[in-house]
Amino acid sequence: MAGNAGLIAAEGLCYAFPNGVSALDQVQLRVHAGERVALIGANGAGKSTLLLALAELLPCRGKVRRAPGCRVSIVFQDPDDQLFMPSVLDEVAFAPLNAGLARPEARKQAMAALERFGLAGLEERHPSALSIGQRKRLCLAIAMAMTPDLLLLDEPFAGLDPAGSRELARWLGGLEVAFVLATHNLELAGSLTERCVVLQGGRVVLECPTAEAIADADRLRDMGL
Ligand SMILES: Nc1ncnc2c1ncn2[C@@H]1O[C@H](COP(=O)(O)OP(=O)(O)OP(=O)(O)O)[C@@H](O)[C@H]1O
Ligand SMILES: [Mg+2]
Repeated sequence: MAGNAGLIAAEGLCYAFPNGVSALDQVQLRVHAGERVALIGANGAGKSTLLLALAELLPCRGKVRRAPGCRVSIVFQDPDDQLFMPSVLDEVAFAPLNAGLARPEARKQAMAALERFGLAGLEERHPSALSIGQRKRLCLAIAMAMTPDLLLLDEPFAGLDPAGSRELARWLGGLEVAFVLATHNLELAGSLTERCVVLQGGRVVLECPTAEAIADADRLRDMGL
């Protein structure tokens, strides 16, 4: 994508699951380099589906355009959809190894990512032997080990304790990469993002500064929030 076109752009995205449920309906969304966007909507509004579509993991109608070389990492809502290696260290080292890094270098990078997410000491553990909050952090470490330009975060605070949520929010606040954050935590969405996109029934029903959306409680209630 040229010039000001952004890092990623969804144009007229439509997706229906094989059982016929329509989950995305003519969605337009654009994210620029370094931008932070909250994705808000009631249960079933289509947030997870949209993130999967942006990661080009779903055969949608419409288009997803990426800037040349733009790397996208996604953190799934359910960590168990993401984890498949026999140890925590193997999970985080997988992407760097795949990218061609030598084993010692990949290990060093993985250890640094684990340290950053408070998982040092757990590197030999099987991922299924972690708590949900720890698995959530592990997925973040994996996503960041891919050095993305855009991070797609599906409810990263779900399952974290309050201190863990605050810590993650602090860390996200310090990131220089762009992110799209699907969350039900309006307070953290307000502190972390400038802009929000509200989904309802697979459609974008509101796009505005996050603070403005949060301030309009009546409108949010009408949208099932
Ligand atoms: N595998 C599936 N097969 C059929 N329908 C699905 C499937 N996954 C999701 N849906 C439906 O697609 C719609 C969008 O679901 P999606 O998971 O994207 O919502 P969401 O906004 O992420 O909700 P939540 O806040 O509960 O995570 C819903 O109507 C849901 O029931
Ligand atoms: Mg979801």
